[in-house]
Amino acid sequence: MTPWWQTTSIYQVYPRSFADSDGDGIGDLPGIIDKLDYIKDLGFGTVWVSPFFASPQRDFGYDVSDYEAVAEEYGTLEDAQRLIDEVHARGMKVMFDLVLNHTSDQHPWFIRSRSSRTNPKADWYIWADGRGKDGRRPPNNWKSAMEFTSAWQYSAARRQWYMATFLPFQPDLNWRNPEVKQAMFDTVRFWLDKGVDGFRLDIFGSIMKDPGLTNNPLRPRMHNGFPRIVQRVHTENTPDNMVLAQELRAICNEYPGERALLGEVFGPPDVLKGYLAEGAGLNLVFLFNFLTFRYDADWFRQTIEAFEQNFPAPMQPTYVLENHDRSRLLDRVDGDRRKAAVLALILLTLRGVPTVYQGQEIGTSNTRLPFKDALDPVATVYRRLPQFVVDRLGETLNRDEVRTPMQWDASANAGFCPAGVTPWLPLNPEYPNVNIAAQQGQDGSLLELYRRLLTLRAGSASLQTGPLAMLEALPPGVLGYRRADLIILANMGTQPLTVRYSGQLLLDVGEVAVGTGRTTLFPDSGVVLQTVVPRLS
Ligand code: GLC
Repeated sequence: MTPWWQTTSIYQVYPRSFADSDGDGIGDLPGIIDKLDYIKDLGFGTVWVSPFFASPQRDFGYDVSDYEAVAEEYGTLEDAQRLIDEVHARGMKVMFDLVLNHTSDQHPWFIRSRSSRTNPKADWYIWADGRGKDGRRPPNNWKSAMEFTSAWQYSAARRQWYMATFLPFQPDLNWRNPEVKQAMFDTVRFWLDKGVDGFRLDIFGSIMKDPGLTNNPLRPRMHNGFPRIVQRVHTENTPDNMVLAQELRAICNEYPGERALLGEVFGPPDVLKGYLAEGAGLNLVFLFNFLTFRYDADWFRQTIEAFEQNFPAPMQPTYVLENHDRSRLLDRVDGDRRKAAVLALILLTLRGVPTVYQGQEIGTSNTRLPFKDALDPVATVYRRLPQFVVDRLGETLNRDEVRTPMQWDASANAGFCPAGVTPWLPLNPEYPNVNIAAQQGQDGSLLELYRRLLTLRAGSASLQTGPLAMLEALPPGVLGYRRADLIILANMGTQPLTVRYSGQLLLDVGEVAVGTGRTTLFPDSGVVLQTVVPRLS
């Protein structure tokens, strides 16, 4: 039997912004539970919940201070258990989000670790002496994820530096210390024991660094749409990190029901497939190339081909167009909702596991927010960049813009929290028009398109497990592929185009005319056709 994680579709919930059940302006676990039917009715198979563990919330949960407790504003451990059980009661799977690379600097382990060089937790984080006369220069040239700043932070108490791959208040754990490994593995088991079906693993590729602290080579290059000056050969996707993937998998394998691991890793597909270790490592890795797509049939064809080549069955490419860190896709297509519909068609008919970020299904746009008011700590780092530079990046550096409250309806506070309460982030001003209630049951709405696509996918062996083959001899502008007996076509060009493929129309987006032996697609349209043999005219 095909394991669930190979055929599932994932809906990402960002708890803080999803649904506020107790009127404090902050989403919470009971709020998520209240909305599980919504996710289920859309047709998703899996819910991935971003971190809700105890945290000072400087990075809104990605800075954990206790892995086995729930942050007060999100609920209790009982709520977390109820969330797991309620997801299961609906026949879905649930993945939690594990931040294994670093803790909060408020975690008791780090408070202890930074207090002296001799305390019992002294070696729980990555500490090193500095360079220069009095050690006041960082140990080496390793850069943080912010690209331009050092990965090292000075601690006066120890007169040493600690490593922080992400932000200074997120010190990296020393996974080469067996006690650390044990403690973190215990956490993994803690949640597996409660019945969670798997984990999304936060910046997984950065956990095992070169123990010799070798300098990274200086080689300026573009990476994921951002400039990168120092390459990360000694700090990212190292061979030891691939081994860690296998160790974690071995823990999951102790449990029944195919618990699954989905890694947040960055790099080219041929490197990333190493994490899967031919079935002995992570189950899935995010392929983030789609986050920086060009709305262009040729771009999609090439990218899909590269993923297909590197992740042949039973491996599954994991597609992602949006998440809580990067721009909403609508802003990448100048707000064109027809293009957003074509992208949904592609995402949900490809071979592999599609992931959808809350709000993507109604075409939520980035909420333009002044940089100076940003709560996102990443925005604070880049605050001095002139606005025109930020605008030209085509990327949001203030993640608040993609994390505003979920737009449930047109009422005050969009149904996210009660009227009169101030939500933790402002609402997207489009919410009176762009919301779930307005699109629910409306023919032609994006929400109903997601539902139709997910329903089609859930009921179609061809879409779930069928091989993918690119169609040949298509006019430039048209993306086309076959999934077993189905044909998917999308016109991403600017002219109406006719192709020599036809079949029974299962689903259409935009304006199309399916004829005998041929199909005409107007710009920004697409179809799913059922056909056994392509008819050539
Ligand atoms: C990942 C998360 C991001 C977080 C960072 C540090 O990239 O997706 O939201 O800030 O890791 O944990």
